[in-house]
Amino acid sequence: MELSTALLLGFVLLGLLWWKKLTRPKGFPPGPPALPIFGNMLQMGFNLKDLRKMSKAYGPVFSIYMGFTPAVVVRGIKDLKEVLVTKGIEFADRPQNRLIKIVSGARGLVFATYGRAWKEHRRFTLSTLRNFGLGKKSMEERICEESTYLIEELRNNKDTLYDPHFVISNAVSNIICSIAFGKRYEYEDPTFRNILKALNEHMKMVFGFWGQLYNLLGFIKYLPLAHQKIFKNIKIIFAFLGKILEEHKKSRVPGQPQDYIDCYLEELDKEQEDGNQSTFDEENLFTCMLDMFVAGTGTTSASLEWCLLYMILHPDIQEKCRDEINKIRGDREHLDYEDRVGMPYTQAVLQEVQRCASVVPLGAPHSTIKDVQLNSYTIPKGTVIIPDLSSVHYDESQWKYPHEFNPENFLNEEGDLVKVDSFLPFSAGPRSCLGENLARMEIFLFFTTILTHFKFYWPDTKPPPDCTPVFGPSQTPKRFLMRLVPLT
Ligand code: HEM
Repeated sequence: MELSTALLLGFVLLGLLWWKKLTRPKGFPPGPPALPIFGNMLQMGFNLKDLRKMSKAYGPVFSIYMGFTPAVVVRGIKDLKEVLVTKGIEFADRPQNRLIKIVSGARGLVFATYGRAWKEHRRFTLSTLRNFGLGKKSMEERICEESTYLIEELRNNKDTLYDPHFVISNAVSNIICSIAFGKRYEYEDPTFRNILKALNEHMKMVFGFWGQLYNLLGFIKYLPLAHQKIFKNIKIIFAFLGKILEEHKKSRVPGQPQDYIDCYLEELDKEQEDGNQSTFDEENLFTCMLDMFVAGTGTTSASLEWCLLYMILHPDIQEKCRDEINKIRGDREHLDYEDRVGMPYTQAVLQEVQRCASVVPLGAPHSTIKDVQLNSYTIPKGTVIIPDLSSVHYDESQWKYPHEFNPENFLNEEGDLVKVDSFLPFSAGPRSCLGENLARMEIFLFFTTILTHFKFYWPDTKPPPDCTPVFGPSQTPKRFLMRLVPLT
């Protein structure tokens, strides 16, 4: 056979292979045609607008190709409820890819595959968080103590144009660090600041273009391209957590657990004594530490930054919240978490911030544990599911004011707080956010303490704030400066 014929045959075969790989199976949700190698990645541009556009063309359940891997995007309350709640177990697995395998290895909490290990670790973590005071006074005390440091730091910057990003991240991260690792970090601590920087960059890159490219083309691992930053940041974060774990192993007093790591090490002792076939081991502990640190830092601090930005943009709403806070607080230093029950307006404002900001717009990817029917389509076992949580937050059929910041979205005529089904910042169902209660408590207590002590403004000299979020697994506002005026 001549070389040219052999080459032609090769191309035809390759084309057929691509065509087969990129042809949607029978009964699979429709979607845009996909390119070889990249699938639909180049059309998506990594933002929500493109998903919205595709949904207009293909409906609330449609499919895209990430490379050669098909994924089903689910939008709208009806189909999201079915995926997350009604058929929650069928959709409760997590997909794995190259980076997830390096970082989590299907262990821990967030990217653990559905099964006994994930169930036991989720149950253990929830109960440990509860025992360390979540829902009880001592958890509140940790947050209130951290608020005192935060207020002091803000006060030191009262006469400057102030960027709150790092201090808010540090204060929020200190809460999960205190529960999980038994320590907090000073705001001036340069080492911890570098860890937070690495974490921030890691989250943006892993789910951005370079992370996706590496997942697609593993051979680029050793090329000197931007994705090397991902490996560098993983190394920094792993070294930080590894050191904490080693310190705990050396210094803990058995029978007297001080934090989450100690509790887990106690569990390991117990399992060894009982000789049980356990799912608890050191690798799982490490991944749980990583998951709580990562999931508990960026999401909550981004939510608080959004709270500040929206209050700067709406000084009248800021004032109304402060009035309600002061009325309930009376002469006390700060509010208790249970005071929220009598504060419908402030609660509505915080929920409205979460709705408008949609901090975790696409949740975390799910995957099917068996073949399952959804909206007349057949989704095969192992399919990646992308739940577009943000889609319900701006749905015109669900909200009084879908496209404006308006706390009335969560209030009835009498000014009482109403429960809205289409509000899913923490997702729902068996795989929903494990830190929801902790995050709610942090946001309420940090927010009300800041408002008690300061008024904050947009500096007159700057152009009006830009609320376009920086897209990522957690959407942050663009960095902004504010002016703080102390009230106490
Ligand atoms: C405002 C703050 C937060 C938001 C908006 C948020 C949102 C979310 C969302 C949307 C998911 C994915 C749920 C799904 O797959 O259906 C998730 C999962 C998770 N979150 Fe959060 N989260 C926040 C704070 C926290 C905190 C403080 C922690 C710390 C413990 C935490 C720990 C987790 C964990 C461990 C998971 C994985 C649960 C599992 O797969 O079983 N989150 N979160």
